[in-house]
Amino acid sequence: MAIRNFEYEDLEEVAKIADESLQENYSIDFLLYLWQINPEGFMVAERDGKVVGFIVSIKEGKEKLRILMLAVDKKFRRKGIGKSLLRELLIKYPETRKVVLEVRSDNKEAINFYKKQKFKIKGKIEDFYTDGSTAYLMERVLF
Ligand SMILES: CC(C)(COP(=O)(O)OP(=O)(O)OC[C@H]1O[C@@H](n2cnc3c(N)ncnc32)[C@H](O)[C@@H]1OP(=O)(O)O)[C@@H](O)C(=O)NCCC(=O)NCCS
Repeated sequence: MAIRNFEYEDLEEVAKIADESLQENYSIDFLLYLWQINPEGFMVAERDGKVVGFIVSIKEGKEKLRILMLAVDKKFRRKGIGKSLLRELLIKYPETRKVVLEVRSDNKEAINFYKKQKFKIKGKIEDFYTDGSTAYLMERVLF
């Protein structure tokens, strides 16, 4: 398994994983926009020539990083891919002191995953998603 920067050719596979794994609907144009504004923060996990997961992030100032999307193909979960995507992203931004993200408050799998990666629930945002559901704001302080 390799973690590398997203490339335009990955778009279809990434969009498929996003569609199957994330409840919010993200258009192809939106994925491209996120890539355009921060190409370094968009990474994929590749296994046997196939994209099996991806992470999208954005810098908010020098020391803060926000994860906007993280998803692993259902068939490849619990194999350390999510953890590797996050690790490689943080290696790229060694100046990061704080990582933040929003996650659906009923998404137990992801909340457990993030807790295992040393994130803590810091707040609750009602009506965060387009269907009106609540988000937890999670945060990891690195140093
Ligand atoms: C969250 C997600 C990205 C995790 O990816 P993953 O590759 O399966 O995670 P990893 O294999 O790296 O997991 C690392 C550790 O996190 C914890 N973890 C991961 N998934 C878990 C689950 N479903 N239940 C409990 N703990 C879990 C475990 O401790 C795991 O280590 P272990 O397998 O040795 O016990 C994946 O479940 C996913 O794509 N979910 C759907 C999309 C989503 O909800 N994204 C987050 C939106 S903010």
